[in-house]
Amino acid sequence: MVKFEDIKGFVFDLDGVIADTSVYHSKAWHQLADELGVAWSDDLAENLKGVGRMDSLNLILKTGGKENAYTEEEKEKYAAKKNTNYLSLLKNMNASAILPGISDFLKTLEEHDYRLSLASASKNSPLVLEQLGLAKYFEKRVDPTTLKHGKPDPEIFARGAEVLGYKPEECIGIEDAKVGVESINAAGETSVGIGDPKILHEADINFTDTTQLTLANIKAAMEVGEH
Ligand code: G6P
Ligand code: MG
Repeated sequence: MVKFEDIKGFVFDLDGVIADTSVYHSKAWHQLADELGVAWSDDLAENLKGVGRMDSLNLILKTGGKENAYTEEEKEKYAAKKNTNYLSLLKNMNASAILPGISDFLKTLEEHDYRLSLASASKNSPLVLEQLGLAKYFEKRVDPTTLKHGKPDPEIFARGAEVLGYKPEECIGIEDAKVGVESINAAGETSVGIGDPKILHEADINFTDTTQLTLANIKAAMEVGEH
């Protein structure tokens, strides 16, 4: 692992790291899976984390053995329907959806002059950040519509470092999705996984929830990793 002192930037995932919105994504996909006659499961919900909109729909269809059941046009319609449902779930969302400890963590990072960027696959991330009142922390963002590949490809996290003007090894990436941790690692950044360590076992550092996500805990974990 690189040294804590060499870290200059933090590249954040959004859904499930900054805010509780992965629950809303899941709810909206679950609703659509029911409509498509595809059985919902915890595994499917886990595998959808971090996956872009159309890729998520394709994964749901594949899981139900329906990958060839719909035309591209029909699939566009279903993906749009999921998004409409997702947006209606977001309607009354405010700063109370920020996950515990995240506001303090962002403040601490700012006080210590770290640069922050956003590496979310969600096209709704500008809206979500606005509603949470956290847009000011993320002037630097990767626009997911400009990407060729989804997570676990390193592209999004590599760009997350690039927009900060830092090398990947000078950045820490933070993720709740297995594919997200893989993307961070493949980009050559230090990965922090938030969630079940069994699922996120590839992360350099693991915290079971966001209350543990502090600069002091990251420093301590990186110092242990050095020996
Ligand atoms: C994130 C979430 C996924 C979501 C994807 C696309 O990666 O973890 O659950 O499917 O973004 O989000 P969007 O808001 O563009 O449909
Ligand atoms: Mg996420």
